[in-house]
Amino acid sequence: MAIADQPALGGIGESVLRKEDARFIRGRGHYVDDITLPGMLHMAVLRSPHAHARIRSVDTAAAAAVPGVVAVVTGELMAQHNLAWMPTLSGDTQAVLATDKVRFQGQEVACVIAETKYIAEDAVQLIDVDYEPLQAVVTPQQALAPGAPVIRDEKAGTTDNHIYHWEAGSKEATDAAFARAARVVSLSTHYPRCHPAPLETCGIIADLDPVTGKATIYMTSQAPHAHRTLFALVAGLPEQNIRIISPDIGGGFGNKVPIYPGYVVATAASLLIGRPVKWVEDRTENLISTGFARDYHMTGDLALDADNRFIGLRVSLLSDNGAFFSDAQPSKFKAGLFHIVTGSYDIPTAHVVADGAYTNKAPGGVAYRCSFRVTEASYLIERLVDVAAHEVGEDPAALRMKNFVPPEAFPYKSATGFEYDSGDYPRAMRLALEKLGYDELRREQAEKRARGELMGIGIASFTEVVGAGKGRDYDIVGLRMFDSAELRVHPTGKAVLKLGVKSQGQGHETTFGQIVAEELGIPAADVDVQEGDTDHTPYGLGTYASRSTPVGGAATAIISRKLRDKGKQIAAHLFEADVADIEFERGRFWVKGSPDQVKTIQEIAFAAYSNIPEGMEAGLEGVHYYDPPNMTFPFGTYLVVVDVDKGTGEVKVRRMVAVDDCGVRINPMIVEGQIHGGLTEGFGIAFMELITFDEEGNCIGSTFMDYLLPTSWETPRFETFATVTPSPHHPLGAKGVGESATVGSPAAYVNAVIDALAPHGVRNIDMPVTSDKVWAALRGAGVTE
Ligand code: CDP
Repeated sequence: MAIADQPALGGIGESVLRKEDARFIRGRGHYVDDITLPGMLHMAVLRSPHAHARIRSVDTAAAAAVPGVVAVVTGELMAQHNLAWMPTLSGDTQAVLATDKVRFQGQEVACVIAETKYIAEDAVQLIDVDYEPLQAVVTPQQALAPGAPVIRDEKAGTTDNHIYHWEAGSKEATDAAFARAARVVSLSTHYPRCHPAPLETCGIIADLDPVTGKATIYMTSQAPHAHRTLFALVAGLPEQNIRIISPDIGGGFGNKVPIYPGYVVATAASLLIGRPVKWVEDRTENLISTGFARDYHMTGDLALDADNRFIGLRVSLLSDNGAFFSDAQPSKFKAGLFHIVTGSYDIPTAHVVADGAYTNKAPGGVAYRCSFRVTEASYLIERLVDVAAHEVGEDPAALRMKNFVPPEAFPYKSATGFEYDSGDYPRAMRLALEKLGYDELRREQAEKRARGELMGIGIASFTEVVGAGKGRDYDIVGLRMFDSAELRVHPTGKAVLKLGVKSQGQGHETTFGQIVAEELGIPAADVDVQEGDTDHTPYGLGTYASRSTPVGGAATAIISRKLRDKGKQIAAHLFEADVADIEFERGRFWVKGSPDQVKTIQEIAFAAYSNIPEGMEAGLEGVHYYDPPNMTFPFGTYLVVVDVDKGTGEVKVRRMVAVDDCGVRINPMIVEGQIHGGLTEGFGIAFMELITFDEEGNCIGSTFMDYLLPTSWETPRFETFATVTPSPHHPLGAKGVGESATVGSPAAYVNAVIDALAPHGVRNIDMPVTSDKVWAALRGAGVTE
């Protein structure tokens, strides 16, 4: 049966328009802040002005006396209910409301619950806290210095600010490689603290029914099921009495993975008062107190032999986690950078040492559009390879080609022990070079250099890792990282697909329907995809680290195949044939040799409720929990061309060519959209975004006037291309893609600037690469006055 005879299904590989856009572009999205419940109260949070201070007293009398104020909640009150502290997703504890000390500027100290948001905000100003300021610790180096004030002194036996020490790879083998190296190149760099800054800030409405005891919690959650389990553990509520509803989400990027103190206070307040309580943070609250990313101090040494082949890699890193270690890290890989630290290169030995420290900053380290710190890993290796190219005088593209893991080496075991599933790095690189016109641009660069002009070409040939678990190795607070899909086909052949993952704008309602279309032949438009309601979706670990397609997508494919198998049995019954003789293609069943007599999936669905073989269960539905055998390893090559103004240090991105390989693409248009978004975020991180702190721990970067996000005005045009190297273990051959461009692109942008400056001896400028830093580097090199 020719595929061309079939109706367009919207299957895999089709750029089906996004279903969800019908409501989003009409302004009909439904977000937490759109929800108003009868009798709803509003919460505002008092935050610490100090980075580190002891709390002597909290006087709430004036706030409590404001008409319309229903309650003022302090740490002491929370402590009476054993809720002043909560567990974090990485096995630490975090203050819900401060009792003993404040440990970062912006930390939650007290909350006001009032009839309106305005009353709550006004009353918060009347709470009088007597602080005794303490010395603030604002860098991890200070934190680990002898005699540093101990930030987490509430933890019995804690005498310093050190959180963890992790190692990966072989020290001995790596030392031996370095001992025989012809050359060693080094790079020390800081991947700065930046913020996911989703357009929609975080928020919650907690609605505890005093009669039934049922808690309905509307929340901007990327992981509603895991959050429900945590709520049950923290609040001691029976899990079946908690329903988390995560409605439309206006961007998450990792920011909506942690549990924030405001969620706990709003829930406790609703429980105690017996009315719904809403808390939606404002922009500054989001920027100063929630889910920071990166803040990694990294040193890498790369050993090369006489032919410029990489023979060893040493990395040491120091992570600034802020006052509480609260990002979601699998318990076995707290450092997160190990997975792809050797990048796309066949480096036989590696040794990585990672330490984490507490500082007086907001909790940091969320995987902002990233899986467990692989962004930092990718940045380090891609920058280091460029430093090597400049030091040994070899073309950075040629040096990469020479050292790539060869396509025939997959599945490839890296020196840190991870198995890359598939890849063809030279192919992606060749395509990118060809699309850019690399050789011609290098010629132009040589001419410009001769004239004293600054032009640079930056390369990043990143490898990524997405799709956590497998469950045996990956867990969050002990919960294995599987995911799930539940599919029900109704008698008319229309389907409902329920997932454990949760879209924050990635287009799941479209792409997951496409998977069902491909596997079961039901048009994607006939599949209603539902997510984000713990009462009505199967358990899953949620959407972050680009795991939806690798895990939830695989679960969807497998449950569709199971229903297809049942459909074959029903077809055999209807045709009075042997099930082994039933053929299936794009929603049609027939007996081998009789392709003219078909039963459609819609007919089979009706039969599932009306005419089934003796002994068969009625209905056409099922659920599958998928535990992936491995992660998936998408990759690509990004090329950036910049011109740098010698007088001002201004950098202009002239070209950006991106070749991505995420295996089989379910919806190429959506994939491209993901890449455009990631390249834009990478551009912002590379050139503009910076949250910094003064020596007293004051956060500088608490509004969009200071924390600069790229707009269409400064963002370059992207030229995007693809290669397809299927994942051998994913049922569809698909790999995740959501985070690839954020992970891979910052190094390409920075490499381009350094390439422009390299003839003058400049080897590094830490991000963000602002004009003033470039100008200072040029001045330091004597290029400009
Ligand atoms: O977990 P998250 O949704 O953030 O990331 P993802 O799995 O990489 O998916 C992002 C979007 O791209 C989803 O709508 C996917 O279904 C789609 N996608 C695709 O069409 N083909 C792929 N190979 C990977 C993702």
